[in-house]
Amino acid sequence: DGDVYKYYSDGEWKVSNSAKTVSIINPTTRKTQYKVQACTQEEVNNTMESANAAQKSWAKTPLWKRAELLHKAAAVLKEHKKPIAECLVKEIAKPAKDAVTEVVRSGDLVSYCAEEGLRILGEGKFLVSDSFPGNERNKYCFTSKIPLGVVLAIPPFNYPVNLAVSKIAPALIAGNSLVLKPPTQGAVAALHMVHCFHLAGFPKGLISCVTGKGSEIGDFLTMHPRVNCISFTGGDTGVAISKKAGMIPLQMELGGKDACIILEDADLDLAASNIVKGGFSYSGQRCTAVKVVLVMESVADDIVKKVNEKVAKLTVGPPEDDCDITPVVTESSANFIEGLVMDARQKGATFCQEYKRQGNLIWPLLLDNVRPDMRIAWEEPFGPVVPVIRINSIEEGINHCNASNFGLQGCVFTRDINKAMLISDAMETGTVQINSAPARGPDHFPFQGLKDSGIGSQGITNSINMMTKIKTTVINLP
Ligand code: G3P
Repeated sequence: DGDVYKYYSDGEWKVSNSAKTVSIINPTTRKTQYKVQACTQEEVNNTMESANAAQKSWAKTPLWKRAELLHKAAAVLKEHKKPIAECLVKEIAKPAKDAVTEVVRSGDLVSYCAEEGLRILGEGKFLVSDSFPGNERNKYCFTSKIPLGVVLAIPPFNYPVNLAVSKIAPALIAGNSLVLKPPTQGAVAALHMVHCFHLAGFPKGLISCVTGKGSEIGDFLTMHPRVNCISFTGGDTGVAISKKAGMIPLQMELGGKDACIILEDADLDLAASNIVKGGFSYSGQRCTAVKVVLVMESVADDIVKKVNEKVAKLTVGPPEDDCDITPVVTESSANFIEGLVMDARQKGATFCQEYKRQGNLIWPLLLDNVRPDMRIAWEEPFGPVVPVIRINSIEEGINHCNASNFGLQGCVFTRDINKAMLISDAMETGTVQINSAPARGPDHFPFQGLKDSGIGSQGITNSINMMTKIKTTVINLP
């Protein structure tokens, strides 16, 4: 009935006193695959105390030593890519090849973070006073970057390893300790990843991983007085967290409705392959997935035909077989997607493929002639369904994009760079990709959303900076 995993706190693997576990359901078999500990609030308290104590001496550990340990963790992580990827396949039905890629990308991220940390934390600023009116040159100001304390990391199910290390590595290099609350689906992959940090030899308490039900420890964690920073990636829960959290820096990435605008002069083959890659990889369960295509009427038939030809070639089935389309993460997620599809059917969208579902597995579907009164025009399915809205002007496309409450990324396909730049300026999103599908990586690029898509900016450099505070010392000359 599923292996039971311990949680990790104060440098040790522990069984919770609650005597309760949380089951992780394999999305493909829909049977319990693993179980993790349902930690108690007292166990969270103990973890926070140990994280707080560990941080004090870690902050005094030379930067190069912190970097060395991170490099070691990166190497161990890459050595363990196979067993970790296997968990991703079983817990979140990520196609086998993509699961391995996620772990390797995570190792690279950790190493890059160590390097970047050495550079940006290794330098400060020096200011003199006489540039401000009324001052003599008698004050010398030195700045440096100091850690915040305990960082709480809450990654989502779609990248339980990568979106955990994208928070862990910046936190640690900057001298913080870190408490990880992994998503339920993906918790075991996350525990394996944390084990790699354990093997690398980080001091006890510096990194911990508490598992359990959000209803039991979610608010308790996010409102915990020991937490000095929260880095969260996920859905609506982020909005609730931002309202409850105390006076601490928040980094949030909360979904999107990334639009793909296609102009008349676009390379349609390029656009079609990016719609398929952007819309259907990991079955559309990415916040940066293409979630609405806005195409000029004159090229709409062509683009729909080209996309359909590619959709027909997508393989559908279990993640173990490396299929392109795999079961979505939970039954409730599949039900939600189905709700959007049925609403579109009822309101007259054109189904380019037959709608087909088996358990959590939903076949890829392109919906043409979607109109603004359909839910799918605005809501993110987080599944393998891509709506196409035909537009008659660029303005219509931009207006649709900007009417969304999300503003993560967007993309535009055109051969006219001037038009592309103007559209990029007009789109109210954190990033606009010209002639490619939205994507977060490479992982050192800034990554941010406007409006309901988030708070702050991620990417390696921005995350390191966000997890530090400026400290100044002023020498006052006589
Ligand atoms: O959904 C998570 C988001 O960060 C997407 O990342 O690499 O798939 O663009 P990526």
